[in-house]
Amino acid sequence: MLNVGIIGCGIISNLNVLGYIHSQDTKLTAVSDVDVKCAAKRLEQWGLRSLKYYKDYKEMVDREELDIVEILTPHHLHAPMTEYCAKAGVPNISLQKPMAHTIADCDRIIQVCNQENVRLKIYENFRFYPVYLRAKELLNQGIIGEQLTFRIINILTAGPSMPLAVKAYQWRITVEKCGGGPEVFDDGQHKLSLALWLMDQDRVESLHGWINYFTGVIDAPANIIWEYPQNNPQDPPKFGSMEFTYASNLYYPSSYYAIDEFIEISGTRGIMWINQCTSGGNFLSKTPQYPPIVVYSNGEVKIYGEDLPRDWRYSFINSTEHFIEIVKTGKGTPVCTGEQGKNLVIFGKMPYISQQEERIVKWDEFSADSENKGVCLVEPPPAELSRGLSKYNRRKRKDLKKGIEQGLEHKDFKYEYEI
Ligand SMILES: NC(=O)c1ccc[n+]([C@@H]2O[C@H](COP(=O)([O-])OP(=O)(O)OC[C@H]3O[C@@H](n4cnc5c(N)ncnc54)[C@H](O)[C@@H]3O)[C@@H](O)[C@H]2O)c1
Repeated sequence: MLNVGIIGCGIISNLNVLGYIHSQDTKLTAVSDVDVKCAAKRLEQWGLRSLKYYKDYKEMVDREELDIVEILTPHHLHAPMTEYCAKAGVPNISLQKPMAHTIADCDRIIQVCNQENVRLKIYENFRFYPVYLRAKELLNQGIIGEQLTFRIINILTAGPSMPLAVKAYQWRITVEKCGGGPEVFDDGQHKLSLALWLMDQDRVESLHGWINYFTGVIDAPANIIWEYPQNNPQDPPKFGSMEFTYASNLYYPSSYYAIDEFIEISGTRGIMWINQCTSGGNFLSKTPQYPPIVVYSNGEVKIYGEDLPRDWRYSFINSTEHFIEIVKTGKGTPVCTGEQGKNLVIFGKMPYISQQEERIVKWDEFSADSENKGVCLVEPPPAELSRGLSKYNRRKRKDLKKGIEQGLEHKDFKYEYEI
């Protein structure tokens, strides 16, 4: 039985815990959080009131014989916590994305885990969402030929959605703690990871970003376009883009965050559309117009994935189960590795530097060295915009009320485990 300890009992621990709670191979041994009330609330929700709790994560790591530590804390704490766990002899560390708030900290994490012989996983659950797994399988079979262009549309909706604590926003809108903004950098990690994985790429070559901070704190709306490396000059160039739309009028129930994703991939012989992820399972998913995967090729349109669960929680369950299997058998590679996690941090920082300097940025400009020289440092949003958020939130609340009055129901987030 593998002993598991969790550091950070914030909102995401509800989903990270699912894969462990019902695993035959793991035992949730202890949790740690500086916020006693928050930890107590989680243990109550999970039906584990008697589980050991530590205010100080170092004490938990020193006292418990942990086989796996799950780190679920704000980004600036990822490197020091990983370092402490690695040096204290924890053999397997699962670290929530983004790997760190700086590239230098990514290097530090990779180095210490190599030195201490620690198996490191950067937790990138979107790659385990059942619909995306099926899409990848189809792409690997060449269903649209060779992938040429990737587009992901993220719509930030009015919800209703999972309730979030104010503290979860506070560190996210502080660049020194988050490493970028809450959308393009933080949430964007998942989307950029899909942009690499579904396109069979490790990195991008160059990128142009436009980010509008109309709320004063949130890095959206945003539109970003990049070019993948061109290995053969005879091939057509391959591109990708990511868009965040702020749709405060859009009544759109979600069991998790108030966002949904729509992907389109053009290939040499076809086109693939992938509908929804985070809010999957809501009323849109039930319409015939929005099946999980649509493929056009050879003069035909086909639908795939209707047999799959369309609930974001499965991306977490599958991701955790994948790691447990690797730890148990010693076979396989975590998704993501440290190097892949670092690439995602670089990718996530590029749009801000492009926006700040109003130019196309190149991958090779980004490193710990350039950070030290002050060259690729993300700046906070311009201070003069800071009043927009309250206006936006007022409008959002009004729209939400309107939707509820119209009889649209919110499917409450439930902490049950279904597979
Ligand atoms: N995979 C995903 O889809 C996904 C979604 C949301 C968040 N995340 C990631 O999960 C991590 C946590 O995010 P969250 O939304 O749960 O944030 P949160 O603010 O809700 O929770 C963070 C928790 O860490 C605790 N904490 C802070 N300092 C600590 C310390 N020294 N020791 C122990 N606990 C400490 C806080 O009290 C808080 O309860 C971040 O890396 C975030 O990017 C991933």
